[in-house]
Amino acid sequence: MQTVNTLDMLRNKLTALRADGATIGLVPTMGALHEGHLTLMRQAKSACDHVVASIFVNPTQFGPNEDLDAYPRQLADDSAMLIAEGVSLLWAPTVEEMYPSGFASSISVEGVSAEFCGASRPGHFDGVATVVCKLFNQVQPDRAFFGEKDFQQLAVIRQMARDLDLSAPFADNIIGVPTVREPDGLAMSSRNRYLSPENRQAAAILPKAMHQAIAQITAGSPVAAVLNQFEQRLLDGGFDSIDYAALADARSLAIVSEFNGTPARMLVAARIGQTRLIDNLPVN
Ligand code: PAF
Repeated sequence: MQTVNTLDMLRNKLTALRADGATIGLVPTMGALHEGHLTLMRQAKSACDHVVASIFVNPTQFGPNEDLDAYPRQLADDSAMLIAEGVSLLWAPTVEEMYPSGFASSISVEGVSAEFCGASRPGHFDGVATVVCKLFNQVQPDRAFFGEKDFQQLAVIRQMARDLDLSAPFADNIIGVPTVREPDGLAMSSRNRYLSPENRQAAAILPKAMHQAIAQITAGSPVAAVLNQFEQRLLDGGFDSIDYAALADARSLAIVSEFNGTPARMLVAARIGQTRLIDNLPVN
C-alpha cells in the first residue's frame, strides 16, 4: 500500500491504478479504524479492483466545543490494518492540502440535514458534505462505501451526489454497509474508546432498548409514548441525556409520528459521561 498526502501524488498514483480499466472503490474515514471500517474495506475490495482509503480528521465537521483536538489519531496503526486488508492506496492529506489558504466554499444540503444530528450539531453536515464532495472529486471512484451507523450522513451524501450530478450514475454507487456491532450489540465507533468501563457496560442498553421500542412500534403502540418510555429507559440505565430519539422515513428522514408500515428508521443520539453515542435500526 502506498500513502500519499499531496493531490499531485494522489493523481499520479490513481492514473497508475486505473491502467487497464481497473475500478476504484473509495472508503472515506477519519482514521482510528475499527472492525466497522475494515468491513467497509472488505466490501469495497469485493466490489472493485482497487480500494483507496482516505484518512482525514475533517475540522469543518466539528463544532467549536466538540472533540476535534481529542479525536484519536493513529496513522501508523491504521496503515498496518489497511495493509492487512489489501488496500492499494491511502490518501492522508494535511489540513492545508485539503483546505488551502483562501478556501471559501461550503456545500449545504437542505432537508435531510435539518433534523437529528443536524439540529444538535449545527454546521456538521455542511462540513461532511463539503469534504466528501472534495474526496469524490479528488479520487473519482467508481463506488464509495459508508457505514449505515451514520445513517443521516449517508442520506446527506446521497442527496448531495444526486443534486450535484456527481458523475451520474455515481449516486447509485454510494453503498451503505450495515452497522458492525460488539457482541453485546453496541454499534462499533471510534468514540467508544472514550467510555469508562462502567459506561461501556451501561451503553449496551442502547441497542437493547431500541429493539424493544421497535417491537412495540411495529405491534401498533403509539410512537410518541414508545419514544418517551425508551428515553426513560436509557436515563434509568445510566445515560446522562438524550439528544434525540425519533422515528423517521427511511429515505427522506421526515419525522414519522404514526407508523403505517412504510420503511422507517429509529434514530438515536444520547450522551453517557463525556461521550455522545449514535445508533439507528430499521423499522419495517
Ligand atoms: O464518517 C466519517 O468518518 C466522516 O464523517 C467522513 C465521511 C469520513 C467525512 O469526514
